[in-house]
Order: sequence, then structure tokens, then C-alpha cells
Amino acid sequence: MDLKILISEEDITKRVREMAREIRDDYDGREIVVVGILKGCFMFLADLTRAIDLPMNIGFMGLRSYGSATETSGVVEIAADLSHPIQDKDVLIVEDIVDTGLTMKYLIDNLSTRGPTSLKVCTLLHKPDRKRVEVPLDYVGFTVPDKFVVGYGLDHDQKLRNLPYIACLEE
Ligand code: IMP
Ligand code: MG
Repeated sequence: MDLKILISEEDITKRVREMAREIRDDYDGREIVVVGILKGCFMFLADLTRAIDLPMNIGFMGLRSYGSATETSGVVEIAADLSHPIQDKDVLIVEDIVDTGLTMKYLIDNLSTRGPTSLKVCTLLHKPDRKRVEVPLDYVGFTVPDKFVVGYGLDHDQKLRNLPYIACLEE
């Protein structure tokens, strides 16, 4: 399997800084709770939060969706939950990629029941061709074609997360 670079390290850095500025301006000094979705978010979240000039708490959730390696089953469950309540907080979900949207839909429905003041979604990547459910995305880094992508946190079979760029797998 070959790797073809889709988004360079330089382009990621530039776009992440732009997103951070937009988020800072939108929240206008308010404190936020960043909820990172493991494991894919780890690199994006580290770069993004460092560039956001706002007071914040950072928490993580682990989600599992059963299915084959490159296709979600749509059955999502929480593998690791937040350690703190988010009631009356301005919550920003940080995700690596929204593909079918099923994971994000589940997450939004779940977190909404916990009484946050606001709930927004920030995803590095969006793969609109595979959309199965409509989810509101407040911040999107890049739109990608309908290909399996890896790197910058995203894995294939738990590998390749450490690549500093985003690539697609070509058979
Ligand atoms: P969704 O529920 O189909 O939107 O996909 C959710 C999860 O599947 C994402 O959070 C990723 O962890 C994983 N995923 C979807 N597409 C890709 C991809 O192209 N590369 C790596 N992981 C992916
Ligand atoms: Mg994920």
C-alpha cells in the first residue's frame, strides 16, 4: 500500500492557526471546555489548543464504533467518559474527521443531555461524500475526498498516526 500526501505539514500548521483565531474571536474571552475525541484528535488538539488564546479546560472521551477497519457500523458506544460535568459550560468538541457523521451525531445527542450552555463542533477533516446523517459542523479544517486518510493523529489499523502530514492510502 502506498501513501500519497494530501495535506502537507505546512498547510496543516497554517490552517490550524486560522481556526484557532476564529475560535478565539467567536468566544470573545469566555472560558471553554474542550472535549477531545480519542485517539485521533491528539495531535490536532495539541496544536489547536496551544494556539487558542482563551481560558480553557481540556477533557477527553473515547468512543468505539464496531465495524470493519475502514467502515463504521454506526453502532457507537462510550469507551471512556469525561471526568467532569459540562453543565453550564461552553463546550467545544474536537474531532479528527467526520465521515458518515454517525459518531458525531451520537456524541452531540449524548452531550446535549448534560446541560451545556453551548455545544460546538470543530473537526480537522470532513468527508462530505460519505455523509449518512446531518450534523452541524462549526469549524472545519479541510474537506477531503472519499478516500481513507491517515496521519496527523488518524490511523489505519492503529498505525501511521505519527505522520506529520495527512496522506491517503492507495492500493
Ligand atoms: P463516522 O462516524 O463515520 O463519521 O467516523 C467516525 C470515526 O471513524 C472518526 O472519528 C475516525 O476515527 C474514523 N474514520 C473515519 N474516516 C476515517 C479515515 O479516512 N481515516 C481514519 N479514520 C477514519
Ligand atoms: Mg475519531
